[in-house]
Amino acid sequence: MIKKPGPIALVMAQDHARLDRLMEEALDARESIRAEPFWDFRQGLLRHIGIEETILLPALKNPSPELKALAAQLRLEHGALTNLLVPEPTQEIAAALRRILEPHNLKEESADGFYSFLDARPKEEIENLLLKISQAPELPLRPYSQRPEAFKAALRAMQRAGYEMGTVPISPNTQAPGSNPEEA
Ligand SMILES: [Fe+2]
Ligand SMILES: [Fe+2]
Repeated sequence: MIKKPGPIALVMAQDHARLDRLMEEALDARESIRAEPFWDFRQGLLRHIGIEETILLPALKNPSPELKALAAQLRLEHGALTNLLVPEPTQEIAAALRRILEPHNLKEESADGFYSFLDARPKEEIENLLLKISQAPELPLRPYSQRPEAFKAALRAMQRAGYEMGTVPISPNTQAPGSNPEEA
Protein backbone atom coordinates (compact mmCIF):
# COMPACT_ATOMS: atom_id res chain seq x y z
CA MET A 1 0.00 0.00 0.00
CA ILE A 2 1.29 3.46 -0.83
CA LYS A 3 1.71 5.59 2.28
CA LYS A 4 -0.14 8.90 1.92
CA PRO A 5 1.92 11.98 2.85
CA GLY A 6 1.08 13.44 6.25
CA PRO A 7 0.18 17.10 6.87
CA ILE A 8 3.76 18.27 7.49
CA ALA A 9 5.04 16.53 4.35
CA LEU A 10 2.19 18.10 2.36
CA VAL A 11 2.82 21.67 3.54
CA MET A 12 6.59 21.46 3.12
CA ALA A 13 6.40 19.70 -0.28
CA GLN A 14 4.05 22.45 -1.48
CA ASP A 15 6.74 24.95 -0.50
CA HIS A 16 9.37 22.90 -2.40
CA ALA A 17 7.11 23.07 -5.48
CA ARG A 18 6.60 26.84 -5.08
CA LEU A 19 10.38 27.36 -4.83
CA ASP A 20 10.94 25.13 -7.88
CA ARG A 21 8.54 27.32 -9.88
CA LEU A 22 10.35 30.50 -8.79
CA MET A 23 13.67 28.96 -9.90
CA GLU A 24 12.14 27.99 -13.27
CA GLU A 25 10.94 31.56 -13.67
CA ALA A 26 14.36 32.95 -12.72
CA LEU A 27 15.97 30.81 -15.43
CA ASP A 28 13.36 31.64 -18.05
CA ALA A 29 15.53 34.27 -19.69
CA ARG A 30 18.18 31.60 -20.48
CA GLU A 31 21.14 33.97 -20.83
CA SER A 32 20.91 35.72 -17.50
CA ILE A 33 19.14 35.10 -14.21
CA ARG A 34 15.91 37.05 -13.81
CA ALA A 35 16.49 39.15 -10.71
CA GLU A 36 13.00 39.33 -9.23
CA PRO A 37 12.00 35.66 -9.17
CA PHE A 38 15.51 34.69 -8.01
CA TRP A 39 15.24 37.16 -5.14
CA ASP A 40 11.87 35.65 -4.18
CA PHE A 41 13.41 32.17 -4.44
CA ARG A 42 16.26 33.27 -2.16
CA GLN A 43 13.84 34.78 0.33
CA GLY A 44 11.61 31.70 0.25
CA LEU A 45 14.40 29.12 0.47
CA LEU A 46 15.99 30.87 3.45
CA ARG A 47 12.63 30.91 5.26
CA HIS A 48 12.08 27.25 4.35
CA ILE A 49 15.52 26.22 5.63
CA GLY A 50 14.98 28.36 8.74
CA ILE A 51 11.78 26.40 9.47
CA GLU A 52 13.60 23.10 9.06
CA GLU A 53 16.61 24.12 11.15
CA THR A 54 14.79 25.84 14.01
CA ILE A 55 11.42 24.04 14.17
CA LEU A 56 11.47 20.66 12.40
CA LEU A 57 14.95 19.17 12.95
CA PRO A 58 14.91 19.97 16.69
CA ALA A 59 11.47 18.26 16.94
CA LEU A 60 12.89 14.80 16.14
CA LYS A 61 12.57 12.70 19.29
CA ASN A 62 15.08 9.93 20.10
CA PRO A 63 16.32 9.61 16.52
CA SER A 64 17.76 6.25 15.45
CA PRO A 65 21.38 6.28 14.21
CA GLU A 66 20.02 6.24 10.61
CA LEU A 67 17.76 9.22 11.28
CA LYS A 68 20.61 11.06 13.02
CA ALA A 69 22.77 10.51 9.93
CA LEU A 70 19.97 11.75 7.65
CA ALA A 71 19.49 14.87 9.82
CA ALA A 72 23.26 15.56 9.74
CA GLN A 73 23.33 15.26 5.93
CA LEU A 74 20.29 17.56 5.60
CA ARG A 75 22.08 20.13 7.79
CA LEU A 76 25.20 19.98 5.60
CA GLU A 77 23.07 20.45 2.49
CA HIS A 78 21.27 23.39 4.12
CA GLY A 79 24.70 24.89 4.73
CA ALA A 80 25.60 24.46 1.05
CA LEU A 81 22.28 25.90 -0.16
CA THR A 82 22.49 28.87 2.21
CA ASN A 83 26.07 29.65 1.18
CA LEU A 84 25.13 29.45 -2.50
CA LEU A 85 22.57 32.23 -1.90
CA VAL A 86 25.22 34.69 -0.71
CA PRO A 87 27.08 35.62 -3.94
CA GLU A 88 25.42 37.30 -6.93
CA PRO A 89 23.54 34.51 -8.76
CA THR A 90 24.97 33.07 -11.98
CA GLN A 91 23.90 30.16 -14.21
CA GLU A 92 26.54 28.10 -12.45
CA ILE A 93 25.17 28.87 -9.01
CA ALA A 94 21.58 28.24 -10.12
CA ALA A 95 22.65 24.87 -11.57
CA ALA A 96 24.39 23.94 -8.31
CA LEU A 97 21.32 24.91 -6.28
CA ARG A 98 19.09 22.72 -8.45
CA ARG A 99 21.53 19.81 -8.32
CA ILE A 100 21.49 19.85 -4.52
CA LEU A 101 17.78 20.62 -4.13
CA GLU A 102 16.49 17.75 -6.22
CA PRO A 103 17.89 14.89 -4.09
CA HIS A 104 17.62 17.02 -0.93
CA ASN A 105 13.87 17.50 -1.32
CA LEU A 106 13.42 13.78 -1.98
CA LYS A 107 15.26 12.93 1.26
CA GLU A 108 12.68 15.09 3.04
CA GLU A 109 9.45 14.40 1.13
CA SER A 110 9.65 10.72 0.27
CA ALA A 111 7.43 8.19 2.07
CA ASP A 112 10.25 7.27 4.47
CA GLY A 113 11.92 10.71 4.37
CA PHE A 114 12.58 13.23 7.11
CA TYR A 115 9.05 14.71 7.19
CA SER A 116 7.46 11.26 7.60
CA PHE A 117 9.07 10.95 11.06
CA LEU A 118 7.41 14.19 12.16
CA ASP A 119 4.08 13.14 10.66
CA ALA A 120 4.31 10.02 12.88
CA ARG A 121 4.24 12.19 16.04
CA PRO A 122 1.01 12.56 18.08
CA LYS A 123 -1.68 14.72 16.47
CA GLU A 124 -1.35 17.56 18.99
CA GLU A 125 2.38 17.84 18.35
CA ILE A 126 1.84 17.88 14.57
CA GLU A 127 -0.72 20.68 14.93
CA ASN A 128 1.69 22.66 17.05
CA LEU A 129 4.44 22.23 14.43
CA LEU A 130 2.05 23.26 11.61
CA LEU A 131 1.14 26.41 13.56
CA LYS A 132 4.81 27.28 14.05
CA ILE A 133 5.48 26.69 10.33
CA SER A 134 2.62 29.00 9.32
CA GLN A 135 3.87 31.72 11.67
CA ALA A 136 7.53 31.59 10.60
CA PRO A 137 8.49 35.06 9.36
CA GLU A 138 10.46 35.93 6.25
CA LEU A 139 13.95 36.98 7.25
CA PRO A 140 15.41 40.36 6.27
CA LEU A 141 17.87 39.72 3.43
CA ARG A 142 21.29 41.23 2.89
CA PRO A 143 22.23 42.28 -0.64
CA TYR A 144 24.29 39.78 -2.67
CA SER A 145 27.98 39.71 -1.86
CA GLN A 146 30.42 40.75 -4.59
CA ARG A 147 33.38 39.29 -2.70
CA PRO A 148 35.18 36.31 -4.31
CA GLU A 149 35.40 34.83 -0.77
CA ALA A 150 31.61 34.38 -0.78
CA PHE A 151 31.82 32.12 -3.82
CA LYS A 152 34.72 30.17 -2.33
CA ALA A 153 32.82 29.71 0.93
CA ALA A 154 29.90 28.29 -1.10
CA LEU A 155 32.28 25.85 -2.84
CA ARG A 156 33.62 24.66 0.51
CA ALA A 157 30.11 24.25 1.96
CA MET A 158 29.16 22.21 -1.13
CA GLN A 159 32.19 19.99 -0.69
CA ARG A 160 31.35 19.39 2.97
CA ALA A 161 27.92 18.18 1.81
CA GLY A 162 29.55 15.88 -0.78
CA TYR A 163 28.94 18.01 -3.89
CA GLU A 164 31.26 19.47 -6.48
CA MET A 165 30.45 22.42 -8.70
CA GLY A 166 30.06 20.00 -11.60
CA THR A 167 30.61 20.40 -15.30
CA VAL A 168 29.05 23.85 -15.55
CA PRO A 169 31.48 26.65 -16.52
CA ILE A 170 33.84 27.89 -13.84
CA SER A 171 32.95 31.26 -12.39
CA PRO A 172 35.40 34.15 -13.06
CA ASN A 173 35.90 34.26 -9.28
CA THR A 174 37.48 30.81 -9.29
CA GLN A 175 39.88 31.33 -12.24
CA ALA A 176 43.38 30.18 -11.41
CA PRO A 177 45.74 33.10 -10.76
CA GLY A 178 47.20 34.39 -14.02
CA SER A 179 44.60 32.76 -16.25
CA ASN A 180 42.73 35.15 -18.47
CA PRO A 181 39.06 34.39 -19.10
CA GLU A 182 39.14 36.62 -22.23
CA GLU A 183 41.53 34.18 -23.92
CA ALA A 184 39.24 31.17 -23.52
FE1 LIG B 1 15.74 21.06 3.69
FE1 LIG C 1 12.59 21.19 2.64
